[in-house]
Amino acid sequence: MAEKNDLMEKVVSLCKRRGFVFPGSEIYGGLANTWDYGPYGAELKKNVKNAWWKHFVDDRDDMVGLDAAILMNPKTWEASGHVNSFSDPLIDCKKCKTRHRGDKLLEEKIGVEKTAGIELKEIHNALEKEQVPCPDCGKIDWAEAKTFNLMFKTHQGVVEESTTEVYLRPETAQGIFVNFKNILDSCRVKVPFGIAQIGKAFRNEITPGNFIFRTREFEQMEIEYFCKPDTKKEVFEEWKDLSKQFFTEVLGIKTDNLRFREHDEKELSHYSSMTFDVEYRFPFGKRDAVETWGELQGLADRGDFDLSQHEKFSGKDLKYQDPHTNERYLPHVIEPSFGCDRTLLTVLIDAFDEEKLEDDSVRTVMRFKPSIAPIQVAVFPLLKNKEELVGKAREIYKDIKKSFRSEWDDSGNVGKRYRRQDEIGTPYCITVDFDTLEDESVTVRDRDSMEQERVKIGELKEYLMAKM
Ligand code: GAP
Repeated sequence: MAEKNDLMEKVVSLCKRRGFVFPGSEIYGGLANTWDYGPYGAELKKNVKNAWWKHFVDDRDDMVGLDAAILMNPKTWEASGHVNSFSDPLIDCKKCKTRHRGDKLLEEKIGVEKTAGIELKEIHNALEKEQVPCPDCGKIDWAEAKTFNLMFKTHQGVVEESTTEVYLRPETAQGIFVNFKNILDSCRVKVPFGIAQIGKAFRNEITPGNFIFRTREFEQMEIEYFCKPDTKKEVFEEWKDLSKQFFTEVLGIKTDNLRFREHDEKELSHYSSMTFDVEYRFPFGKRDAVETWGELQGLADRGDFDLSQHEKFSGKDLKYQDPHTNERYLPHVIEPSFGCDRTLLTVLIDAFDEEKLEDDSVRTVMRFKPSIAPIQVAVFPLLKNKEELVGKAREIYKDIKKSFRSEWDDSGNVGKRYRRQDEIGTPYCITVDFDTLEDESVTVRDRDSMEQERVKIGELKEYLMAKM
């Protein structure tokens, strides 16, 4: 029911009101574009990460995990190409002195395909030709575009000199490549196999924004899948299917709001010969944007770019030896790379619903898939001042909590408790009433249909298990 352009505002407001996402360092006036996950947001994020790990690592025999350091030897970033190529075109508005990403402003006006591959020196003229105004002051008075490296620099140790300079990793992927040999030598892996990692990455984005969509500190969920070069086409297709499955079946995202988009040649990163983005139709709708599809995941054929660069820069032999044929080669890599915070934003937007009820009131409900909902079951005593109801409800709660993410709620009337649980997306609420004391049954209310059913306490776990 929410209009597309105010949906985003409503989601952001619900996130704050209900403890999903707070503005960062708020009591000090905040820090621009930083966000903190509150209790329900942290829970939801953990559930998304666990579901990802289960789908791509635990449920397969050809995947292993890794948790590498954020700070890496700076040579890593020379080898990976980030020192030289990981930059965006920065453009200043001469009128109001604000800074913007030239290519993104153009993309919003003429579309990603027409913008892809545009040279730095062409950006200024293109913005003037397309009459792209400054988003802050509305004037068209652009300076020439400059390159701006996105890596955050810091110093390791107590002396601030260039030899101590290190970067906060801009992607988790390189932690995987530099550990490829360690994993080959210590684990019983055979090509084809993949290494997965979830962790923080940092990019000094010129124009962060759209809530948790583009931030300077974010989490990635990345896989580097190593395969024989002549098999990579099939492997790529397999990962395309698995990625789609993750979003639609595991997280329950509506298929209509998702698409795969192939990068044309000009858009490809320096390391890739083929890339698809999984995109979601976000309700950003800002300015005169031609589209609001935003990247959730990249799926790239990285060839042997990274391993061969690390061989060159480290002087180490990183080749794989086939145990059957003794053939030695650098495997090629298919990389599904997911943004965790963007996935979370997608889950939040996709789940948000406003439903008009018979009495003309509107209920807000987060229709999370039960398996990832922050709270799966809420338990209420009908009245909080009736000892026998509270005692019975506590008993049930204690037991239910062992199997489901559960919450106790005894404040306000039951109707208000339902509304609150709807807003945090709890799929089932259990009410213990006076009949419970007689018939050992409780009322289970379904979030989506709002229907209520009497269920025997002894059958409750099985009943809920079947629904999750
Ligand atoms: N290792 C490949 C790589 O990092 P990428 O397309 O630059 O590829 C992968 O990033 C994913 O990380 C993106 O699809 C996006 O979901 C997420 N991501 C990238 N930059 C981000 C940012 N500034 N804020 C939030 N998520 C971001």
